[in-house]
Amino acid sequence: MSFESLLPKPVRVTPAPGTFASTGPITPDVSIVDSLPAEGYRLSITPEGVSVEAADEAGAFYALQTLRQLAGPDAFRAAAIHGPQWTLPCGEVEDHPRFGWRGVLLDVARHFMPKYEVFRFLDQLAAHKLNVLHLHLTDDQGWRVEVPEFPRLTEVGAWRTGSWVGRPPDGTTEHDGRPHGGYYTSDDMREIVAYARERHITVVPEVDIPGHSQAAIAAYPELGNTGSDLPVLRSWGINENILTVSDYAIGFYRKVFDHVAAIFDAPVICVGGDEVPTVQWEDNEVAAKRMADEGFAEARQLHGWFVGQMAAHLAGLGRRTLGWDEILEVGDLPQGAIVASWRGEEAGVTAASSGHDVVMCPEQYVYLDHRQSDHPDEPIPVGWIHTLEDVYRYEPIPTALAPEFHSHVLGAQAQVWTEHLDNARRVDYATFPRLAAFAEVVWTAGDRSYEEFEDRLTTYHLPRLDAMGVEYRPLDGPKPWQTRPGVPSRPK
Ligand code: ACM
Repeated sequence: MSFESLLPKPVRVTPAPGTFASTGPITPDVSIVDSLPAEGYRLSITPEGVSVEAADEAGAFYALQTLRQLAGPDAFRAAAIHGPQWTLPCGEVEDHPRFGWRGVLLDVARHFMPKYEVFRFLDQLAAHKLNVLHLHLTDDQGWRVEVPEFPRLTEVGAWRTGSWVGRPPDGTTEHDGRPHGGYYTSDDMREIVAYARERHITVVPEVDIPGHSQAAIAAYPELGNTGSDLPVLRSWGINENILTVSDYAIGFYRKVFDHVAAIFDAPVICVGGDEVPTVQWEDNEVAAKRMADEGFAEARQLHGWFVGQMAAHLAGLGRRTLGWDEILEVGDLPQGAIVASWRGEEAGVTAASSGHDVVMCPEQYVYLDHRQSDHPDEPIPVGWIHTLEDVYRYEPIPTALAPEFHSHVLGAQAQVWTEHLDNARRVDYATFPRLAAFAEVVWTAGDRSYEEFEDRLTTYHLPRLDAMGVEYRPLDGPKPWQTRPGVPSRPK
């Protein structure tokens, strides 16, 4: 994206002393230099104008984001490109990110996010200098990616008849009776990839195998172990209906990954691999034969085998495999695989210490669907309490990891699972401002002060989020419009 496309229209102004004000579209003098670290930039604002030195195009883009920050909240309004001039304080900024993987997972499987909402989310990530959007595209409750060869994946797998309400006590399956669904066409996904690319964000697609696959099995029952018809799931949690290990299933998913790889340009593709109960493989002819052929003693080895099949296929397509940390426990890690350490830090330490790259995303710190307080008006309480401060204090390099392996920590990723976030406003509330804290965690090296962050947040950043129309959680907690069942809605 060019600087010009985001900058104001010509306006004549007289700058105040110590400021630079645009007298036209700011066309900073941008040069690419070798002396800066990847994605870094040096910005100089003088009464005469703005100049940028950048390590690469991403660095120039981040310089632009910093200019917007300096220009004030109005520069974050959607209409900023048509708005008034920017007045910038004179000065110098030199900056670069600490980690190359500054990611966010968005779960569009549990609740579908229309394409334009994904664009809006990408704009939010770009403003926070985040550079990976991990899109969780398939799960038990929905299949969101059109695959022309297998039309039932989206004709059937993208739709469910209701969604589990709240977090009912064990045993209840109360659902809202409201159909839910949607999917991205191939062109939609190409647009998402292009929109992200313009903002220096890589979209890492996830097709979850061999668990979390009931939507696919609902569309093609031969992908399952029991042969019975299953619905797209309405409830949440870990599910025993996993994929069969037949040649058909392997061939089917190779084609799915071929299609995904043709659309998404990320060097990394996620195969999921999390939460795979193997009970259906314990007493099953196809699984027994596969185990005998492979010389496996335990059904859980089939889990590693399935992941290995897909990883080998992705390698043949020139892509690296990303998998949730269960893949460490069920067999040898595929060559070049990256481990997403989500159940804690241990898997990250184990994988990195044996020379594998890792992305740190422990649920104890950076699961942004988790609740923010015990307040009774808090939206449906998920997981543990993760306050803004908890997220800010997260350190992606585990203390248990020896320094010689630190370089295997590619970065960290915040997770926005959407079982209980059924629209973009709910996503805003769960995500912000905690994502602003996370953005500092992955960008800034060295000491950070939470107190200073809080000051910056209140003085500068919340007004920017307001200008962007982000319905973030107020620092002092819920407002009436953050409803949960039974809580009165926004006052008239
Ligand atoms: C996960 O949260 N199941 C990766």
